Amino acid sequence: MAIRLGDTAPDFTAETTEGTIRFHEWIGNNWCVLFSHPKDFTPVCTTELGYMAKIKPEFEKRGVKIIGLSVDPVGSHKEWSNDIKETQGYAPNYPLIADSDRKVATLYDMIHPNALDSLTVRSVFVIGPDKKVKLMLTYPASTGRNFDEILRAVDSLQLTAKHSVATPVNWKQGEDCIIVPSLSDADAKQKFPSGWKALKPYLRLVPQPK
Ligand code: BEZ
Repeated sequence: MAIRLGDTAPDFTAETTEGTIRFHEWIGNNWCVLFSHPKDFTPVCTTELGYMAKIKPEFEKRGVKIIGLSVDPVGSHKEWSNDIKETQGYAPNYPLIADSDRKVATLYDMIHPNALDSLTVRSVFVIGPDKKVKLMLTYPASTGRNFDEILRAVDSLQLTAKHSVATPVNWKQGEDCIIVPSLSDADAKQKFPSGWKALKPYLRLVPQPK
């Protein structure tokens, strides 16, 4: 069945390049980015996996663990890692799930046969410490993802989980936020005593809460 935002991310046990993991236990109290790619030894995937290794410290700063997946076996993932290091300057420094039996891909509905026969498409799931799915992306094989956007979205997810705000178009760390419409002006006065700028009664801007 398709996964929807707010669902509990399916748990699983899987072989990875860093040993066997039980997914929920592996996430622990962290956030998680689970991303699939179609196949080992393919060009777009090579660039994506190298880039994720490069920006892993940015995910760590945010308390996010990252984990990749494809339907090839561990031996293939490990061999391919050498090519990723050679061409991208970074070898994967995070686990890659070897989903040869497509167990995880099926659980997460990552195989879209009308787009790509029996291989996983480029899915991204951001999962919270409560193991709920917070964000999903699906890209076709031919289009590499923008993982900087995932970092930006994680910043928004973590901020909006803590404060009664939403983030506007193209928002980045440090920029003004929007007071959520469900918060009345009376309640907003308690939460944002320094006030806000109301462009419309429903569009109230505040500095990013600390
Ligand atoms: C790639 O990663 O380059 C790729 C994988 C499958 C189909 C097309 C491109």
